[in-house]
Amino acid sequence: MNLTEQQRAAISAKWKGQHILSVDQFNRLDLETILAVADDMRVIVKTVGTCDLLKGKLTCNLFYEPSTRTSSSFAAASERLGGSVILINNVQFSSVTKGETLPDTIRAVGSYTDAIVLRHYEKGAAELAAKYSPKPIINAGDGPGEHPTQALLDLFTIKRELGKIDGLTVTLLGDLKYGRTVHSLARLLTNFEGIKINYVSPDSLRMPDYLIKQVGDAGVEQHEYDALEPIIAETDILYVTRVQKERFDDLAHYEAVKDAFIISPETLKDAKQEMRVLHPLPRVNEITMEVDDDPRAAYFRQMENGMYVRMALLYLVLGKQ
Ligand code: NCD
Repeated sequence: MNLTEQQRAAISAKWKGQHILSVDQFNRLDLETILAVADDMRVIVKTVGTCDLLKGKLTCNLFYEPSTRTSSSFAAASERLGGSVILINNVQFSSVTKGETLPDTIRAVGSYTDAIVLRHYEKGAAELAAKYSPKPIINAGDGPGEHPTQALLDLFTIKRELGKIDGLTVTLLGDLKYGRTVHSLARLLTNFEGIKINYVSPDSLRMPDYLIKQVGDAGVEQHEYDALEPIIAETDILYVTRVQKERFDDLAHYEAVKDAFIISPETLKDAKQEMRVLHPLPRVNEITMEVDDDPRAAYFRQMENGMYVRMALLYLVLGKQ
């Protein structure tokens, strides 16, 4: 889809000052705009490195759970746009340890900064924060709920790698129960035509029924498997996830499923040459390091793309337009 300047300006204005909580907020035009703006951001970084679109704007990364890529790519995104960042990555050293509630912490941080990038261990935390925040909240992962900015960078990567999103067969593999990235990505894919989604997981880590229903109601063809072999040859995007150890009540259960799927060069022998392997990272055991040298392994490029997409989002929410 080629956007007119007018369409792009209208969509850009729509996101100014908005919270980004769930992928359900985006329609096809929004997505095309975000991907186009992310492309521009990539060019800015590759050619001049930084700009001043966010000059005078201060964001806060408020992270109640560990993060490498999401936190540092949001921080880098702000800085590359000429903005500044406060990092609260160790909430144990903040007043959270004194018993402060999320709404009060949000009120405090929101009174000093222009937007809050929030990661929290509870599903729904971003939505709760948005109720109390005087400034836009960007959901950087709410427990097993959603991870909308990750799903946007996943889409951006698919488009860059394969040149299109419509018509693809996307296989989501691993921990589909607790993996918030796949919860967001499956929903986001409903905006595209002719998508088929395969879910591959141990039975105990199946995609939640409410998501299968939502995606099915939107007209997407879906199939569930407990092995990858039957569908590796038809797959265009193989999206691998980590088994989310931190979400298990019973570690014996985690131990029983943690190595259920391990992608190796052998696994990929029947895959298409144009197939791509994505992973939100961090990886533990689920993709062997030998796969890294396969040109189809796109996960490190995907990681880099995260910064461009987060620049696009910060620009749309906070930037001068
Ligand atoms: C993911 C997350 O936090 O949900 N990581 C990320 O943001 N890239 C995936 C994971 O932790 O397994």
